[in-house]
Amino acid sequence: MNETLADPDTPFAVLDRSRLERNVGRLAEHLDALGVPLRLHVKTAKSVEVAAVVFGGGTGPITVSTLAEAEQFADAGYDDLVYPVGIVASKLPRVLALLRRGVRLAVVLDSAEQAQVVAAASEEAGVRIPVLVEIDCDGHRAGLEPDDPAVLDVGRLVASGAELRGVLSHAGGSYHATSAEEIGRAADEERDAVVRAAERLRADGHPCPVVSVGSTPTAFAATDLTGVTEVRAGTYVFFDTVMHGLGNQEHGILSILPGGDAPLPDLPVGTRLRILPHHACAAASQHRAYEVVDGTATIEATWPRSGGW
Ligand SMILES: Cc1ncc(COP(=O)(O)O)c(C=O)c1O
Repeated sequence: MNETLADPDTPFAVLDRSRLERNVGRLAEHLDALGVPLRLHVKTAKSVEVAAVVFGGGTGPITVSTLAEAEQFADAGYDDLVYPVGIVASKLPRVLALLRRGVRLAVVLDSAEQAQVVAAASEEAGVRIPVLVEIDCDGHRAGLEPDDPAVLDVGRLVASGAELRGVLSHAGGSYHATSAEEIGRAADEERDAVVRAAERLRADGHPCPVVSVGSTPTAFAATDLTGVTEVRAGTYVFFDTVMHGLGNQEHGILSILPGGDAPLPDLPVGTRLRILPHHACAAASQHRAYEVVDGTATIEATWPRSGGW
């Protein structure tokens, strides 16, 4: 007989399959309407089973936050990956090993030094490493400003030995937005920054086929993605209270749902509570697996998570 939510020792991660499917469906519908494909960021769920829900049982383009994720998803048949963590020389042997086994993995950089390292490593290995140049759309994170002359210098250096595949931006500033208008503005700025940088690189002779944007807030807020070729998002598969605008750093907050007037329950020590995560990625990373339910307390499956670096 199946276990129920009353059985595993606490804490454990509960994943409600129909909520997952609803979240996944919402973004798929939105991006379909905008005519731009999703590049799922797997860093939140780190689960091949969750990615299979997103891709309807098949595989699709993904973003990874570690090379361990890249290797684990490559083992599961994923072959179109972006690793958007500023690349350093020490990571290149594993990048090259993935490329040699037929995995199309693009690395990301935003400086002449990195471009030189990647171009030289490509020449030495006889493999043109695909590269996306990171563009800063909000002054909050990494990347070059779209009109910075360095965009063209970096592009030329990359193309001298590696493969300049395109540009990428992440509107990290959107997490601090406090209104729908602000998030909408962040989505527009994210699009404008990469489209502008891609136009400049094309005018300089580089085809620049990939124009990549994405964060959960801007993915949902975008209304016009003209010029963009893919949208990255990961947290949306679970959502969390930060995305809902409620997070802080407590272990948990008990509150009555908005509109309710019941008193807070007087919970005895040992009461088992289901807590919505503040930050889905951080909460999930504390667990080795998800206990999967589907709207009831019955645990229907246990889906493992990957880990490591
Ligand atoms: C480069 C990059 N792309 C996409 C994402 C996905 O954003 P979200 O976690 O809001 O879904 C992240 C998140 O950290 C990121 O760093």
